[in-house]
Amino acid sequence: MNKKLILDYKEKIDCEVPMQMETLPLAEEQSFSQWQQEIPKEYFQLSPDEIINRITKLKKNMGNELIILGHHYQREDIIQFADQIGDSYALSVYAANNHSTPNIVFCGVHFMAEAADILSNDEQKIILPNLEAGCSMADMANRPDVSSAWKELTNRFKDQFNIIPITYINSPATLKAFCGQNNGIVCTSSNADKVIKWAFERGDKVFFFPDQHLGRNTSHQLGINDDLISLWDWRRPDIELGGNSEEKIRKSKVILWDGFCSVHQRFTVSQIKEARSQYPRINIVVHPECNADVVKEADAVGSTAFIADYVNNAKDGSIIGVGTEVNLVSRLAKLNPQKQIFCLDSVVCPCSTMYRVHPAYLLWVIESLSNGKVVNQIKVPEKDKAFAKIALERMLEIS
Ligand code: 13P
Ligand code: SF4
Repeated sequence: MNKKLILDYKEKIDCEVPMQMETLPLAEEQSFSQWQQEIPKEYFQLSPDEIINRITKLKKNMGNELIILGHHYQREDIIQFADQIGDSYALSVYAANNHSTPNIVFCGVHFMAEAADILSNDEQKIILPNLEAGCSMADMANRPDVSSAWKELTNRFKDQFNIIPITYINSPATLKAFCGQNNGIVCTSSNADKVIKWAFERGDKVFFFPDQHLGRNTSHQLGINDDLISLWDWRRPDIELGGNSEEKIRKSKVILWDGFCSVHQRFTVSQIKEARSQYPRINIVVHPECNADVVKEADAVGSTAFIADYVNNAKDGSIIGVGTEVNLVSRLAKLNPQKQIFCLDSVVCPCSTMYRVHPAYLLWVIESLSNGKVVNQIKVPEKDKAFAKIALERMLEIS
Protein backbone atom coordinates (compact mmCIF):
# COMPACT_ATOMS: atom_id res chain seq x y z
CA MET A 1 0.00 0.00 0.00
CA ASN A 2 1.31 3.45 -0.89
CA LYS A 3 2.03 5.05 2.47
CA LYS A 4 1.84 8.56 1.02
CA LEU A 5 -1.79 8.02 0.07
CA ILE A 6 -2.95 6.93 3.50
CA LEU A 7 -4.23 9.42 6.05
CA ASP A 8 -1.63 9.72 8.73
CA TYR A 9 -2.72 12.21 11.31
CA LYS A 10 0.52 12.10 13.23
CA GLU A 11 2.50 13.32 10.23
CA LYS A 12 3.62 16.96 10.47
CA ILE A 13 1.69 18.84 7.82
CA ASP A 14 2.30 22.21 6.27
CA CYS A 15 -1.18 23.54 6.75
CA GLU A 16 -2.94 26.45 8.50
CA VAL A 17 -4.90 23.98 10.63
CA PRO A 18 -3.22 20.76 11.73
CA MET A 19 -5.39 17.68 11.36
CA GLN A 20 -5.77 16.05 14.73
CA MET A 21 -8.06 13.36 15.93
CA GLU A 22 -8.37 14.14 19.61
CA THR A 23 -10.03 17.21 21.05
CA LEU A 24 -7.72 19.71 22.69
CA PRO A 25 -8.78 22.31 25.25
CA LEU A 26 -9.57 25.53 23.36
CA ALA A 27 -6.51 27.23 24.86
CA GLU A 28 -4.24 24.65 23.20
CA GLU A 29 -5.65 25.00 19.68
CA GLN A 30 -2.78 26.35 17.58
CA SER A 31 -4.96 28.41 15.28
CA PHE A 32 -7.14 29.95 18.01
CA SER A 33 -5.71 33.42 17.33
CA GLN A 34 -7.77 33.46 14.09
CA TRP A 35 -11.01 32.46 15.78
CA GLN A 36 -13.79 34.30 17.57
CA GLN A 37 -12.08 35.42 20.78
CA GLU A 38 -15.18 36.62 22.65
CA ILE A 39 -15.89 33.45 24.52
CA PRO A 40 -15.82 33.55 28.32
CA LYS A 41 -12.41 32.62 29.73
CA GLU A 42 -13.86 29.71 31.73
CA TYR A 43 -14.27 27.73 28.47
CA PHE A 44 -10.59 27.98 27.54
CA GLN A 45 -9.15 25.31 29.83
CA LEU A 46 -12.06 22.85 29.95
CA SER A 47 -10.93 19.31 29.32
CA PRO A 48 -12.51 17.39 26.42
CA ASP A 49 -14.29 15.06 28.90
CA GLU A 50 -15.80 18.00 30.77
CA ILE A 51 -17.00 19.56 27.49
CA ILE A 52 -18.49 16.31 26.23
CA ASN A 53 -20.28 15.57 29.50
CA ARG A 54 -21.73 19.05 29.76
CA ILE A 55 -22.98 19.13 26.14
CA THR A 56 -24.49 15.65 26.52
CA LYS A 57 -26.37 16.66 29.68
CA LEU A 58 -27.59 19.96 28.25
CA LYS A 59 -28.84 18.31 25.07
CA LYS A 60 -30.81 15.86 27.13
CA ASN A 61 -32.29 18.59 29.33
CA MET A 62 -33.24 20.79 26.41
CA GLY A 63 -34.99 17.97 24.52
CA ASN A 64 -37.18 19.33 21.71
CA GLU A 65 -36.09 22.89 22.40
CA LEU A 66 -32.84 22.32 20.55
CA ILE A 67 -31.61 20.71 17.36
CA ILE A 68 -27.99 20.53 16.24
CA LEU A 69 -27.29 20.45 12.50
CA GLY A 70 -23.86 19.34 11.28
CA HIS A 71 -22.32 19.70 7.84
CA HIS A 72 -20.31 16.70 6.58
CA TYR A 73 -17.04 18.66 6.91
CA GLN A 74 -17.40 19.24 10.63
CA ARG A 75 -14.85 17.74 12.98
CA GLU A 76 -15.61 14.36 14.51
CA ASP A 77 -15.87 15.88 18.01
CA ILE A 78 -18.76 18.04 16.71
CA ILE A 79 -20.45 15.46 14.47
CA GLN A 80 -20.96 13.22 17.51
CA PHE A 81 -23.54 15.75 18.77
CA ALA A 82 -25.33 16.42 15.45
CA ASP A 83 -28.99 15.40 15.23
CA GLN A 84 -28.92 15.85 11.46
CA ILE A 85 -25.84 15.53 9.25
CA GLY A 86 -25.96 16.56 5.61
CA ASP A 87 -24.78 18.54 2.62
CA SER A 88 -25.77 22.18 2.15
CA TYR A 89 -28.90 21.19 0.26
CA ALA A 90 -30.18 18.66 2.81
CA LEU A 91 -29.56 21.04 5.71
CA SER A 92 -31.44 23.83 3.89
CA VAL A 93 -34.36 21.48 3.24
CA TYR A 94 -34.32 20.57 6.91
CA ALA A 95 -34.52 24.24 7.93
CA ALA A 96 -37.31 24.87 5.41
CA ASN A 97 -39.42 21.95 6.65
CA ASN A 98 -38.92 22.02 10.40
CA HIS A 99 -40.53 25.03 11.94
CA SER A 100 -41.22 23.59 15.37
CA THR A 101 -37.77 23.55 17.04
CA PRO A 102 -37.14 26.98 18.60
CA ASN A 103 -33.32 26.78 18.65
CA ILE A 104 -31.20 25.49 15.78
CA VAL A 105 -27.47 25.36 16.40
CA PHE A 106 -25.82 25.17 12.99
CA CYS A 107 -22.44 23.49 13.05
CA GLY A 108 -21.18 24.57 9.67
CA VAL A 109 -20.17 27.89 8.17
CA HIS A 110 -21.79 31.33 8.06
CA PHE A 111 -23.60 31.11 4.69
CA MET A 112 -25.25 27.85 5.78
CA ALA A 113 -26.59 29.42 8.98
CA GLU A 114 -27.83 32.41 6.96
CA ALA A 115 -29.71 30.11 4.57
CA ALA A 116 -31.28 28.36 7.58
CA ASP A 117 -32.34 31.72 9.03
CA ILE A 118 -33.93 32.75 5.72
CA LEU A 119 -35.87 29.48 5.46
CA SER A 120 -36.88 29.12 9.11
CA ASN A 121 -39.72 31.06 10.72
CA ASP A 122 -39.39 34.30 12.68
CA GLU A 123 -39.64 32.62 16.09
CA GLN A 124 -36.75 30.22 15.46
CA LYS A 125 -33.23 31.18 16.40
CA ILE A 126 -30.30 30.06 14.26
CA ILE A 127 -27.01 29.99 16.11
CA LEU A 128 -23.51 29.61 14.68
CA PRO A 129 -21.14 28.47 17.47
CA ASN A 130 -18.15 30.42 16.14
CA LEU A 131 -18.83 33.60 14.16
CA GLU A 132 -15.44 33.31 12.48
CA ALA A 133 -16.55 30.13 10.72
CA GLY A 134 -16.91 31.66 7.26
CA CYS A 135 -16.10 30.43 3.75
CA SER A 136 -13.24 31.91 1.75
CA MET A 137 -15.03 31.18 -1.52
CA ALA A 138 -18.21 32.96 -0.38
CA ASP A 139 -16.03 35.96 0.50
CA MET A 140 -14.89 36.20 -3.13
CA ALA A 141 -18.19 37.72 -4.29
CA ASN A 142 -19.95 40.61 -2.60
CA ARG A 143 -23.04 42.57 -3.55
CA PRO A 144 -21.32 45.79 -4.76
CA ASP A 145 -18.93 43.88 -7.07
CA VAL A 146 -21.64 41.62 -8.47
CA SER A 147 -24.07 44.54 -8.92
CA SER A 148 -21.51 46.57 -10.80
CA ALA A 149 -20.66 43.61 -13.09
CA TRP A 150 -24.39 43.04 -13.61
CA LYS A 151 -24.97 46.70 -14.50
CA GLU A 152 -22.13 46.63 -17.00
CA LEU A 153 -23.48 43.47 -18.61
CA THR A 154 -27.13 44.45 -18.69
CA ASN A 155 -26.47 48.05 -19.86
CA ARG A 156 -24.10 47.00 -22.61
CA PHE A 157 -26.24 44.18 -23.97
CA LYS A 158 -29.76 45.36 -23.23
CA ASP A 159 -32.22 44.39 -25.96
CA GLN A 160 -29.76 41.73 -27.20
CA PHE A 161 -30.22 38.94 -24.66
CA ASN A 162 -31.64 38.09 -21.28
CA ILE A 163 -29.26 36.98 -18.49
CA ILE A 164 -30.29 34.93 -15.45
CA PRO A 165 -28.13 35.28 -12.30
CA ILE A 166 -27.40 32.13 -10.31
CA THR A 167 -25.64 32.17 -6.98
CA TYR A 168 -24.10 29.07 -5.45
CA ILE A 169 -25.41 28.64 -1.90
CA ASN A 170 -21.81 29.33 -0.79
CA SER A 171 -22.44 33.07 -0.94
CA PRO A 172 -23.63 35.85 1.38
CA ALA A 173 -27.38 36.43 1.84
CA THR A 174 -27.04 39.75 0.00
CA LEU A 175 -26.25 37.84 -3.20
CA LYS A 176 -29.15 35.46 -2.70
CA ALA A 177 -31.30 38.59 -2.35
CA PHE A 178 -29.73 39.98 -5.54
CA CYS A 179 -30.81 36.83 -7.40
CA GLY A 180 -34.30 36.99 -5.89
CA GLN A 181 -34.64 40.59 -7.11
CA ASN A 182 -33.33 39.87 -10.62
CA ASN A 183 -35.30 36.77 -11.66
CA GLY A 184 -32.46 34.56 -10.50
CA ILE A 185 -32.02 31.56 -8.26
CA VAL A 186 -29.72 29.74 -5.81
CA CYS A 187 -28.09 26.36 -6.46
CA THR A 188 -26.11 23.86 -4.43
CA SER A 189 -23.56 21.31 -5.58
CA SER A 190 -26.32 18.69 -5.68
CA ASN A 191 -28.73 20.51 -8.01
CA ALA A 192 -26.64 22.92 -10.14
CA ASP A 193 -27.55 21.00 -13.33
CA LYS A 194 -31.30 21.33 -12.73
CA VAL A 195 -30.91 24.97 -11.75
CA ILE A 196 -28.91 25.87 -14.88
CA LYS A 197 -31.52 24.09 -17.04
CA TRP A 198 -34.22 26.10 -15.23
CA ALA A 199 -32.32 29.29 -16.04
CA PHE A 200 -32.05 28.44 -19.74
CA GLU A 201 -35.81 27.94 -19.89
CA ARG A 202 -36.08 31.62 -18.88
CA GLY A 203 -33.09 33.36 -20.38
CA ASP A 204 -30.36 33.24 -23.03
CA LYS A 205 -27.35 33.34 -20.74
CA VAL A 206 -26.39 32.53 -17.16
CA PHE A 207 -24.26 34.70 -14.86
CA PHE A 208 -22.93 32.24 -12.25
CA PHE A 209 -21.14 33.19 -9.01
CA PRO A 210 -18.97 32.74 -6.97
CA ASP A 211 -17.56 29.27 -7.87
CA GLN A 212 -16.21 29.12 -11.39
CA HIS A 213 -15.51 25.38 -11.04
CA LEU A 214 -19.01 24.26 -10.08
CA GLY A 215 -20.29 26.52 -12.88
CA ARG A 216 -17.87 25.13 -15.47
CA ASN A 217 -18.21 21.48 -14.47
CA THR A 218 -21.99 21.68 -14.55
CA SER A 219 -21.94 23.51 -17.90
CA HIS A 220 -19.74 20.76 -19.35
CA GLN A 221 -22.15 18.16 -17.99
CA LEU A 222 -24.94 19.96 -19.88
CA GLY A 223 -22.94 19.97 -23.14
CA ILE A 224 -21.80 23.61 -22.94
CA ASN A 225 -18.12 23.59 -23.95
CA ASP A 226 -15.37 26.06 -23.04
CA ASP A 227 -15.92 28.12 -26.23
CA LEU A 228 -19.30 29.10 -24.82
CA ILE A 229 -18.02 30.02 -21.35
CA SER A 230 -16.47 33.35 -20.20
CA LEU A 231 -14.61 34.01 -16.97
CA TRP A 232 -15.26 37.35 -15.23
CA ASP A 233 -12.18 38.75 -13.48
CA TRP A 234 -13.73 40.62 -10.54
CA ARG A 235 -10.32 41.51 -9.12
CA ARG A 236 -9.80 44.00 -11.98
CA PRO A 237 -12.67 46.51 -11.90
CA ASP A 238 -10.52 48.76 -14.09
CA ILE A 239 -10.90 46.47 -17.12
CA GLU A 240 -14.08 46.24 -19.18
CA LEU A 241 -16.42 43.27 -19.10
CA GLY A 242 -14.32 41.42 -16.54
CA GLY A 243 -11.54 41.10 -19.11
CA ASN A 244 -13.73 39.73 -21.94
CA SER A 245 -14.39 41.18 -25.38
CA GLU A 246 -17.94 42.09 -26.40
CA GLU A 247 -17.74 39.32 -28.97
CA LYS A 248 -16.77 36.75 -26.31
CA ILE A 249 -19.68 37.73 -24.03
CA ARG A 250 -22.09 37.74 -26.98
CA LYS A 251 -21.00 34.22 -27.91
CA SER A 252 -21.01 32.84 -24.34
CA LYS A 253 -23.87 30.89 -22.83
CA VAL A 254 -22.37 31.02 -19.34
CA ILE A 255 -20.41 33.82 -17.64
CA LEU A 256 -18.51 32.60 -14.58
CA TRP A 257 -17.28 34.64 -11.62
CA ASP A 258 -13.61 33.94 -11.01
CA GLY A 259 -14.07 32.41 -7.53
CA PHE A 260 -12.85 29.08 -6.15
CA CYS A 261 -12.47 26.92 -3.05
CA SER A 262 -8.87 26.67 -1.91
CA VAL A 263 -9.50 23.28 -0.26
CA HIS A 264 -10.64 21.74 -3.56
CA GLN A 265 -7.87 23.41 -5.57
CA ARG A 266 -5.49 21.01 -3.84
CA PHE A 267 -6.70 18.05 -5.91
CA THR A 268 -4.81 17.39 -9.14
CA VAL A 269 -4.82 15.09 -12.14
CA SER A 270 -1.40 13.76 -11.16
CA GLN A 271 -2.75 12.63 -7.77
CA ILE A 272 -5.44 10.68 -9.62
CA LYS A 273 -2.90 9.19 -12.04
CA GLU A 274 -0.64 8.17 -9.18
CA ALA A 275 -3.54 6.55 -7.34
CA ARG A 276 -4.60 4.68 -10.50
CA SER A 277 -1.07 3.40 -11.09
CA GLN A 278 -0.89 2.12 -7.49
CA TYR A 279 -4.35 0.59 -7.53
CA PRO A 280 -5.52 -0.31 -11.06
CA ARG A 281 -9.06 -1.12 -9.87
CA ILE A 282 -9.52 2.06 -7.85
CA ASN A 283 -12.54 4.35 -8.25
CA ILE A 284 -12.17 8.09 -7.88
CA VAL A 285 -14.95 10.34 -6.62
CA VAL A 286 -14.55 14.12 -6.33
CA HIS A 287 -16.54 17.22 -5.41
CA PRO A 288 -17.58 19.56 -8.29
CA GLU A 289 -15.62 22.42 -6.71
CA CYS A 290 -12.51 20.69 -8.11
CA ASN A 291 -10.94 21.86 -11.39
CA ALA A 292 -12.53 20.61 -14.62
CA ASP A 293 -9.47 18.52 -15.56
CA VAL A 294 -9.69 16.72 -12.18
CA VAL A 295 -13.43 16.12 -12.62
CA LYS A 296 -12.82 14.70 -16.11
CA GLU A 297 -10.29 12.20 -14.72
CA ALA A 298 -12.64 11.06 -11.93
CA ASP A 299 -15.17 8.22 -12.13
CA ALA A 300 -17.85 10.16 -10.30
CA VAL A 301 -18.56 13.69 -9.15
CA GLY A 302 -21.08 15.05 -6.70
CA SER A 303 -21.95 16.88 -3.50
CA THR A 304 -20.71 15.79 -0.09
CA ALA A 305 -23.89 13.72 0.35
CA PHE A 306 -23.31 12.08 -3.05
CA ILE A 307 -19.72 11.26 -2.07
CA ALA A 308 -20.87 9.76 1.25
CA ASP A 309 -23.48 7.60 -0.55
CA TYR A 310 -20.95 6.58 -3.21
CA VAL A 311 -18.54 5.29 -0.57
CA ASN A 312 -21.16 3.79 1.76
CA ASN A 313 -22.85 1.94 -1.12
CA ALA A 314 -19.63 0.57 -2.67
CA LYS A 315 -19.13 -3.14 -2.27
CA ASP A 316 -16.76 -4.57 0.31
CA GLY A 317 -13.16 -4.65 -0.86
CA SER A 318 -13.59 -1.48 -2.96
CA ILE A 319 -10.73 0.98 -3.18
CA ILE A 320 -11.84 4.59 -3.46
CA GLY A 321 -9.77 7.76 -3.73
CA VAL A 322 -11.75 10.82 -2.67
CA GLY A 323 -11.26 14.45 -3.68
CA THR A 324 -12.92 16.44 -0.94
CA GLU A 325 -12.36 17.80 2.56
CA VAL A 326 -10.52 15.39 4.79
CA ASN A 327 -12.84 15.31 7.82
CA LEU A 328 -15.49 13.71 5.62
CA VAL A 329 -12.99 11.35 3.99
CA SER A 330 -11.60 10.14 7.31
CA ARG A 331 -15.13 9.61 8.69
CA LEU A 332 -16.07 7.56 5.62
CA ALA A 333 -12.87 5.52 5.99
CA LYS A 334 -13.72 4.81 9.62
CA LEU A 335 -17.32 3.87 8.83
CA ASN A 336 -16.24 1.53 6.04
CA PRO A 337 -13.37 -0.54 7.46
CA GLN A 338 -13.99 -3.29 4.89
CA LYS A 339 -13.13 -0.84 2.08
CA GLN A 340 -9.97 1.11 1.39
CA ILE A 341 -10.87 4.79 1.41
CA PHE A 342 -8.35 7.61 1.24
CA CYS A 343 -8.00 11.28 0.45
CA LEU A 344 -6.28 11.99 -2.89
CA ASP A 345 -4.26 14.76 -1.28
CA SER A 346 -1.49 13.32 0.88
CA VAL A 347 -1.03 16.66 2.72
CA VAL A 348 -4.31 16.48 4.54
CA CYS A 349 -5.68 19.95 5.26
CA PRO A 350 -9.16 20.38 6.65
CA CYS A 351 -11.35 23.34 5.65
CA SER A 352 -9.84 25.80 8.12
CA THR A 353 -13.10 27.69 8.65
CA MET A 354 -15.28 24.61 9.22
CA TYR A 355 -12.64 23.52 11.73
CA ARG A 356 -13.23 26.65 13.84
CA VAL A 357 -16.37 25.11 15.32
CA HIS A 358 -14.62 23.65 18.36
CA PRO A 359 -16.76 21.80 20.97
CA ALA A 360 -16.02 24.54 23.56
CA TYR A 361 -17.97 26.99 21.36
CA LEU A 362 -20.80 24.50 20.99
CA LEU A 363 -20.94 24.11 24.77
CA TRP A 364 -20.89 27.89 25.29
CA VAL A 365 -23.81 28.59 22.91
CA ILE A 366 -25.95 25.76 24.30
CA GLU A 367 -25.15 26.60 27.91
CA SER A 368 -26.10 30.22 27.21
CA LEU A 369 -29.39 29.11 25.64
CA SER A 370 -30.23 26.99 28.64
CA ASN A 371 -29.59 30.07 30.83
CA GLY A 372 -32.03 32.07 28.70
CA LYS A 373 -29.33 33.98 26.80
CA VAL A 374 -28.94 33.83 23.02
CA VAL A 375 -25.38 34.27 21.77
CA ASN A 376 -24.07 34.15 18.18
CA GLN A 377 -27.52 34.35 16.60
CA ILE A 378 -27.42 34.70 12.81
CA LYS A 379 -30.09 37.14 11.67
CA VAL A 380 -30.29 38.15 8.03
CA PRO A 381 -31.54 41.76 7.78
CA GLU A 382 -35.21 41.99 6.72
CA LYS A 383 -34.33 43.98 3.59
CA ASP A 384 -32.42 40.97 2.20
CA LYS A 385 -34.41 38.16 3.76
CA ALA A 386 -37.56 38.33 1.64
CA PHE A 387 -35.72 38.46 -1.71
CA ALA A 388 -33.18 35.83 -0.65
CA LYS A 389 -36.07 33.58 0.34
CA ILE A 390 -37.57 33.92 -3.16
CA ALA A 391 -34.30 32.75 -4.73
CA LEU A 392 -33.91 29.85 -2.27
CA GLU A 393 -37.52 28.76 -2.64
CA ARG A 394 -37.18 28.73 -6.44
CA MET A 395 -34.35 26.24 -5.95
CA LEU A 396 -36.31 24.12 -3.46
CA GLU A 397 -39.24 23.95 -5.89
CA ILE A 398 -37.19 22.39 -8.67
CA SER A 399 -35.02 19.95 -6.74
P1 13P B 1 -21.97 20.45 -0.24
O1 13P B 1 -23.18 21.26 -0.57
O2 13P B 1 -21.66 19.44 -1.28
O3 13P B 1 -22.11 19.88 1.12
O4 13P B 1 -20.71 21.40 -0.28
C1 13P B 1 -20.52 22.46 0.56
C2 13P B 1 -19.16 22.95 0.50
O5 13P B 1 -18.85 23.96 1.08
C3 13P B 1 -18.19 22.22 -0.27
O6 13P B 1 -16.95 22.80 -0.16
FE1 SF4 C 1 -15.94 27.15 1.65
FE2 SF4 C 1 -14.21 25.47 0.50
FE3 SF4 C 1 -14.63 25.35 3.13
FE4 SF4 C 1 -16.53 24.54 1.40
S1 SF4 C 1 -14.52 23.62 1.73
S2 SF4 C 1 -16.82 25.81 3.22
S3 SF4 C 1 -16.23 26.04 -0.27
S4 SF4 C 1 -13.71 27.08 1.98
